[in-house]
Amino acid sequence: MSVRRLAEESVQPAEFAFNREFAAQAKVWIKKYPKERAQSAVIPLLMLAQEQDGWVTKRAIETIADMLGMPYIRALEVATFYTQFQLKPVGTRAHVQVCGTTPCMLRGSEALMDVCRSKIHPEPFHLNDSGTLSWEEVECQGACVNAPMVMIFKDSFEDLTPERLAYIIDRFEAGRPGDVTPGPQIDRIYSGPAGGLTTLKQEIKPGAKNGAKATAKAKSPAATKAGRPKSPATETESKSPAKAKANVKADAKTAASATEAPKMSSARKDSATAKAAAKPAPVAAAASVDDKNRPAGIAKPAQVDDLKMISGVGPKIEGILHSLGIYTFAQVASWKQAERDWVDGYLKFKGRIEREDWLKQAKALAKGGEAEYIKVFGKKPR
Ligand code: FES
Repeated sequence: MSVRRLAEESVQPAEFAFNREFAAQAKVWIKKYPKERAQSAVIPLLMLAQEQDGWVTKRAIETIADMLGMPYIRALEVATFYTQFQLKPVGTRAHVQVCGTTPCMLRGSEALMDVCRSKIHPEPFHLNDSGTLSWEEVECQGACVNAPMVMIFKDSFEDLTPERLAYIIDRFEAGRPGDVTPGPQIDRIYSGPAGGLTTLKQEIKPGAKNGAKATAKAKSPAATKAGRPKSPATETESKSPAKAKANVKADAKTAASATEAPKMSSARKDSATAKAAAKPAPVAAAASVDDKNRPAGIAKPAQVDDLKMISGVGPKIEGILHSLGIYTFAQVASWKQAERDWVDGYLKFKGRIEREDWLKQAKALAKGGEAEYIKVFGKKPR
């Protein structure tokens, strides 16, 4: 963690004043507090100053202190404490704040800093050659569960790999930040489990002993909405690669009947509820190695594909697949539904193979490796 000091006098501008638009916004903020508590507006005003000039200058801090009737040292304390305030000029297109606190560090933040060192500047707080990018290490940003992560201005990008961060920096550098969606960069919803929900998938309606027996008469907002509220993260996933869409689709199935319930007649609701109650929950296929649906294995070929490029396959799962005689993308791409169900059951994946769309991933990788994967999914395989 670096010491936070104001920029040298040589780069400090002589004056600071809010322009008309920001002055109006500052007034709104000041009015929110009683006169004798005007200094409570110091953080919003410092943010406005940063938005206007790109960083917080010494003159801005002093001007804001004057506006709020507080000693300079009090405003300086705030500005130098929070890493959200940039005390020196930073990249005009992106200032990457890499979290280096323990959870992010254990999950690979050092590799993210290496990306910044190679793509931006070997040292933090230095601009790249074109003055568009800069970076620094910061303390915990409160997204530890999705570690490792970075902040770029007001957005966080989580569950990062070095490759994904490199791609994100490239998009910002190209002036196309809209190409990347903030939030988790894997098929995770908010800070839910990676790979989709494993519990709490069924909606329990008020008055029912369990979710299956719930009547369609229950009309609480929870009963008439989808199981998960529509949210920025849901939109995020809609823009994300297809595997994230598949994941959302699978989870949304549980909620679909509830969404449609208000449109149904009472009789139809009862009938639909009864059908849903009668229908047994899908059970993973029996995972006996002698099962006829077990995909055919092959002898280990000279050239073995890196199955870990398929999302959801780590070294352990790859080892299990090898033990089943599965060594190539082409094999995975050829699996029929029953075979996929068998493997899913064997791995105790609870539907993850479908949610992560192994078939589509394997087809892309078998067809053209990483290049084809990027073409299909818009990002590198893991
Ligand atoms: S440790 Fe990185 S966000 Fe908390």
